[in-house]
Amino acid sequence: MSSDKKPILITTALPYANGSIHLGHMLEHIQVDIFVRFLRMIGRKVYFVCADDQHGSPIMLKAKQLNKTPEEMIAEVEQEHQHDFAGFDISYDNYYRTNSPENQEISNKIYKTLREKGFIKSKTISQLYDPQENMFLPDRFVKGTCPKCKAADQYGDNCEVCGATYAPTELISPYSTISGATPILKESEHYFFDLPQFSDFLKSWISSGTVQDEMANKLQEWFNSGLQMWDISRDAPYFGFKIPDSDNKYFYVWLDAPVGYLASFKNLFDRIGVDFEETFRDPDAELYHFIGKDILYFHTLFWPAMLKGADYATPKKVFVHGYVTVNGAKMSKSKGTFIKASTYLKHFTPECLRYYYASKINGKIDDLDLNLEDFVAKVNADIVNKLVNLASRTAGFITKFFDGKLAATIDDEALYNKFIHAQDTIKEAYLNREFNKVVREVMALADDANRYVDEKAPWVLAKDESKRAELHNICTMSLNLYKILISFVAPILPRLSKASAEFLNVELTWDNLATPLLGTNINKFKALFTRIDQKEVAAMIEDSKKDLAAAAKTLDKKDTKDTKKKDEVAAPSQITIDDFAKVDLRAALVLNCEEVPESKKLLRFELDLGNGEKRQIFSGIKSAYQNPQELIGRYVIVVYNLLPRKMKFGLSEGMILSAGHDNEIFLLSADSGVKAGDKVM
Ligand code: 2FM
Ligand code: ZN
Repeated sequence: MSSDKKPILITTALPYANGSIHLGHMLEHIQVDIFVRFLRMIGRKVYFVCADDQHGSPIMLKAKQLNKTPEEMIAEVEQEHQHDFAGFDISYDNYYRTNSPENQEISNKIYKTLREKGFIKSKTISQLYDPQENMFLPDRFVKGTCPKCKAADQYGDNCEVCGATYAPTELISPYSTISGATPILKESEHYFFDLPQFSDFLKSWISSGTVQDEMANKLQEWFNSGLQMWDISRDAPYFGFKIPDSDNKYFYVWLDAPVGYLASFKNLFDRIGVDFEETFRDPDAELYHFIGKDILYFHTLFWPAMLKGADYATPKKVFVHGYVTVNGAKMSKSKGTFIKASTYLKHFTPECLRYYYASKINGKIDDLDLNLEDFVAKVNADIVNKLVNLASRTAGFITKFFDGKLAATIDDEALYNKFIHAQDTIKEAYLNREFNKVVREVMALADDANRYVDEKAPWVLAKDESKRAELHNICTMSLNLYKILISFVAPILPRLSKASAEFLNVELTWDNLATPLLGTNINKFKALFTRIDQKEVAAMIEDSKKDLAAAAKTLDKKDTKDTKKKDEVAAPSQITIDDFAKVDLRAALVLNCEEVPESKKLLRFELDLGNGEKRQIFSGIKSAYQNPQELIGRYVIVVYNLLPRKMKFGLSEGMILSAGHDNEIFLLSADSGVKAGDKVM
């Protein structure tokens, strides 16, 4: 981090405006908010912005499904998003939108500069086109049979069963998921951003400490396989910005989405009188992005190259984080662990999640598990039993016996100094985004403080009139230790720290952290934090299941003639019993199961198929089973007579059956009593 007084320009990734904010999003927004609040606390000037990402085919199509205009839908979603973030006390300086005049102006300006400098090329390409809807089909809106493993109903870009990636034109029997029609190939002229020209720049940009080491290695792989031209145009109909001087072409949403960061800064700066151009033309501008690992490519290749080509400052830092899992597995709508931000807030205060996430954020890209049992236990043990307890068991005596006035001395200088000396370690941990370390340090100190109070037992002294001075000093000491600890966690727990500041009658700042409260008056202690309960978790899970049902109902109601068409065309073809008999299905025992580290989707199974036969099968279900070892000892159903297939990672000898919906996938298993090798009929 730079040491000068330049403002730090910080962003969270722009949430896509076709769905609700959930606890996965909140990991990023909470994380950045903690970082920003800390920077502000140590006196750094920060501008923290976000916006809704509002363009693209999914938004256009979802609005249509809801019988709304895209403008109506994105306005509603924006309100909801802003409300959710406010509910978690995310302290943006500005929350804006990509469908805005500022964004159009800057996107056009960047595009025109890139064009003038020869970084935009045009080329005619053939793409799948829905003849019924009269539109080109994005990859995710085409499905068909995988050209490699022949699994039905796979998306246009990759197969969830065998993990193959391919072009949508390679799908067998493709169909449009919008109308169900068979797509045709159609030519159209597209504009491309010439990314390969930025290869050298990007290599040095990445190696200058902009991304975490593990991400820099990932990027090196992309360089090794060669950078490609990037298609930045889309044909009408499209919800987005028209490309200047083009014939009905639009910017691909991923072109104007990151420009939305700049648009949000510009909108803020115009309001508060900061010069946008001057700030972002300065190569030393301190621009930091926080993103999830899924959007690394856009932020570490296209985006810095675009900025460089258009003579804007390139990001100084791109901080990447992992995903949230709940109870060890991918968030699941049917299990009720796909929890919306608004649903969470009906059951718990924002501080509980802020604290839990902080206790696990380590500045790395590991996934973070929200274990709901641990969540309740940790919040109660740490915030209630350790932290707040320190104030609650001593403040009453100050009010009762000393008229709210603190004593004039620090009872245990050594202990007090130990707390003060932790300030540097905690500062460093915040700056490295290792909030888990902050929490660990603070809790260790809280243990020291509680031990001090336990040993001194003020409740015993309170019974003895002759021990008033001692009681006064001990309670004053305890409240001073509390003041330091609550200052340390103020960026994580802003509500608790605000309520504590009111009760202690002091402003909690980084600078006055070492100044003890002596001889001043405190206000009457009021309950600062309420213990939470596992029952509330169960209620939240139930509510989340209801959310899913309600959302499905809204779409069903609105989805009128299109669904019918889709069903007619997509109905599975019928087969005879003889056709079915050709498929030899067998029960198999899982002997071993492990991740294929190089693959996002695949798990490697070793199976026992009875009579001493062992087989290896790769299955694309990694996302559903974070802990593949759990599957050892289970029986699964295997297509026994499928031709073996040579994959990058080895030979796959058959296929394991699973079922799925809404991007979730579940293994089919056999009932108890089944033996390895049993025929399935
Ligand atoms: O992945 C997403 O949800 C995108 N809407 C993030 C965009 S970040 C930025 F580039 F706008
Ligand atoms: Zn496949």
